[in-house]
Amino acid sequence: MTAHHHSDPGQQAKRAAEYERWLGSSSLSARSIRWWMGPLGQWFANAPLYRLKANLKLDRTVRLLDIGVGRGTVMRMLDDALECDRAPVGLDVSRTALRLAAADEENPDRGAGLVQGSATALPFADGSFNLVLCGHLVKHLEDDDLRALFIEVRRVLEPGGLALIWEFGPTGHRALDAWNARRLSSGVRHPRLRSTNTLRRLAEESGFTFTRDADLRPFLLPPIPRASILIGRPPGED
Ligand SMILES: C[S@@+](CC[C@H](N)C(=O)[O-])C[C@H]1O[C@@H](n2cnc3c(N)ncnc32)[C@H](O)[C@@H]1O
Repeated sequence: MTAHHHSDPGQQAKRAAEYERWLGSSSLSARSIRWWMGPLGQWFANAPLYRLKANLKLDRTVRLLDIGVGRGTVMRMLDDALECDRAPVGLDVSRTALRLAAADEENPDRGAGLVQGSATALPFADGSFNLVLCGHLVKHLEDDDLRALFIEVRRVLEPGGLALIWEFGPTGHRALDAWNARRLSSGVRHPRLRSTNTLRRLAEESGFTFTRDADLRPFLLPPIPRASILIGRPPGED
């Protein structure tokens, strides 16, 4: 890792603390984000993920890591649809999110792993997964932290593995983007809205040789565009 790829743990810890305070509070916006992370909210917020099995021709051999797993709704939906041989793993920096995820679990025997940790220092061995998801998280990361996330995602992917990253993106209209950023900052300050091209460039700078516009759609709510990329680790690379 070169010096300019260094992420700032202090900055991230501050962000994490903001999330923790927000998710656990009784404010209206905290109720709202908890709803967005639940079954109905996720169907509206993450509709294209419900077609991922068909779109990526996924099967039971998927070894899934969901970074920023929230309440675990998407992770469980995919695990149920694929009947994965190996239980998926969901990572989140927020203990409150992980508590909500554990409370939502209807089948504790499944033993889906819920792990507290940072997206930029993944506590997993090299090559542990063949599919990594990361939804609505990267707006909270500065460029250096996002590069660190990509480097970590590439490390934990086995050769041939894929990662799908999606996030609120810019509209191309400055005033509207400023308005959207304000709406998204009710709990966590200064979200960064990046285009698909910017996400691809940062992934390439971090070592990914395969990057594509994943063009996930339609996202139903909230009415803010999304940017999404599919990146992978072709076999035969170091
Ligand atoms: C808006 S929620 C997204 C939930 C779900 N993945 C989705 O797509 O809707 C973002 C989640 O990312 C977590 N998060 C934010 N920054 C993180 C970081 N640096 N490392 C790990 N998790 C983080 C938050 O605690 C929160 O649960």
